[in-house]
Amino acid sequence: MTTPVDATATAAWAELSALRDSFAPDLRGWFAADPDRAARFTLDAADLHVDLSKNLVTDDILAALVRLAEETGVAERYAAMLAGEHINTTEDRAVLHTALRRPPGATPALVVDGQQVDADVQAVLAAMSAFADRVRSGEWTGVTGKKVTHIVNIGIGGSDLGPVMVSAALEPYATDIEARFVSNIDPFDLANKTKDLDPETTLVIVASKTFTTLETLTNARLARDWLWAGLEASGAISSDEADRTNAVAHHFVAVSTALDKVAAFGIDPVNAFGFWDWVGGRYSVDSAIGLSLAIEFGPEVFRDLLAGFHAIDEHVRTTPLAQNVPVLMGLLNVWYSNFLGAQSHAVLPYAQQLSRFAAYLQQLTMESNGKSVRWDGSPVTTSTGEVFWGEPGTNGQHAFYQLIHQGTRLIPADFIAFANPAYPLEDGGRDVHGLFLSNFLAQTKALAFGKTAEEVEAEGTTGALVAARTFPGNRPTTSIFAPALTPAVLGQLIALYEHITFTQGVVWGVNSFDQWGVELGKQLALQIAPAVEGDAAAIDAQDASTRALLAYYHAHRKA
Ligand code: F6P
Repeated sequence: MTTPVDATATAAWAELSALRDSFAPDLRGWFAADPDRAARFTLDAADLHVDLSKNLVTDDILAALVRLAEETGVAERYAAMLAGEHINTTEDRAVLHTALRRPPGATPALVVDGQQVDADVQAVLAAMSAFADRVRSGEWTGVTGKKVTHIVNIGIGGSDLGPVMVSAALEPYATDIEARFVSNIDPFDLANKTKDLDPETTLVIVASKTFTTLETLTNARLARDWLWAGLEASGAISSDEADRTNAVAHHFVAVSTALDKVAAFGIDPVNAFGFWDWVGGRYSVDSAIGLSLAIEFGPEVFRDLLAGFHAIDEHVRTTPLAQNVPVLMGLLNVWYSNFLGAQSHAVLPYAQQLSRFAAYLQQLTMESNGKSVRWDGSPVTTSTGEVFWGEPGTNGQHAFYQLIHQGTRLIPADFIAFANPAYPLEDGGRDVHGLFLSNFLAQTKALAFGKTAEEVEAEGTTGALVAARTFPGNRPTTSIFAPALTPAVLGQLIALYEHITFTQGVVWGVNSFDQWGVELGKQLALQIAPAVEGDAAAIDAQDASTRALLAYYHAHRKA
């Protein structure tokens, strides 16, 4: 195991600290003095056109950040990841989500720990594609011979958030099969998503890397009961064991790394699609976990998505650090978090289809980098893991932008926009998408340059209102522009954030690929379950607060 470099002990860190101490952000002044700033700070990565110029950095700061990446070994660690080294130290695993999107025939072939990685990836992709085609064509039917019209994907975390987000994002590519997603163990979720479905035309995908997750297995059993009850009520099957098994074989498939557990659940392993322990849950939408997407949109769309991921992987692999877009964006986040005190980061897509993008990024970034120990077990030496959040514009403008514009906190924000709309509409002859984009441009401009008291007064405002109507500016943003939200561009966006996350993780020295922090709550939930069910000894074993909450529950729960 290589020891992480302590970023705070590097020469670049000392340099950045000195730059911070004399730092006086002045985007108005910087732009006025430097006509090339926008051009110099704008870079392309595949189809993503990324304008970094409205960030609170000078050339000196950016150069020092790049040196920080060099001194902490970002490039070396990326190469180690691509080569299949076990950089997930606490689980002793390779980290190879980038292998999931290597094109067929990529050379040299990737062999890791004796596994022919490329061949295995392509075999699963071929099986997924063939299955998706069978479902889409109607060759695969439910137990009564009807074509599938609805998919219910049951999974949680990485086995849900990616497919949910992509399904919404690619809605304009929708076909005659609709996908729904059940994740929460709150029984409302399954009941609500299935209440208007016909079991005869529904295919359930149970998606779980480990196939042990409480929420997913509970929902899978509930879905199986729903299927049997519906088919039996309509007389499609009897309650005989053989009929029920046959129904599951027609209506349930699984995606997992644990195919033995899939079989134990009662799903024929023939109808299971595998992946490998070197794919982290939050990095798995491009694995067989994307099966629902391959069915909903067709395998070609899924392959286009993968090609988008790969384009950014290649950008990262082949571009010097100083022009490397995800690396620079990760370094900017380090600058804001560790030197300017930012605690959160907003992601604001100007595309309604990206309504779940921030939720997806929350798992990607916060489960990856929300750590207090480094990959060798030693404590981190600086703060890690910002809070990622956001909503699509323009909705956010009418909700929380006030705080970004005039609040007391520094909130770096990424704005994402597309030149072309999914649905071009006109309002009285005026292109509505143009109006939408005017908002994207206006917001980044207002945040950067603000409005001075003099400008406010020049409009006739006087007295106390002047201060209230003044905008300080110097609120940092990155603008990410692309021609359109195609499957390939979406893959590029996801990969962009994966590599931003990776860069920050390396600088901080954390293992971005484990998630031990989710374990304690899971264990305690299992321990507390008997207390919730009324077991007196289990209730007594709880702390005073939990006992009181249990008492409230028992007093109010209707029989
Ligand atoms: O609880 C966190 C987590 O382990 C995530 O990392 C993972 O994506 C999710 O649970 C679901 O796990 P699985 O795919 O094994 O059901």
